[in-house]
Amino acid sequence: MYVCLCNAISDKAIRNAVRQNKVHSIGELRKIIPVGTECGKCIRHAKAVIAEEHMSVPVDRVA
Ligand code: FES
Repeated sequence: MYVCLCNAISDKAIRNAVRQNKVHSIGELRKIIPVGTECGKCIRHAKAVIAEEHMSVPVDRVA
């Protein structure tokens, strides 16, 4: 499912970025993928996906 329609970024892409790069915030995520750089409507959803991912797999435990 797309989270950011402007930049065609899916929730899967966000989850992968969180796991692989130990992202903790939307600011850190935006250094890796351009989520929320156009209209900004997706930022709340992107933050929710980051939080969900942290709940499912603690970032610090990912190798
Ligand atoms: S939907 Fe993400 S910037 Fe517009």
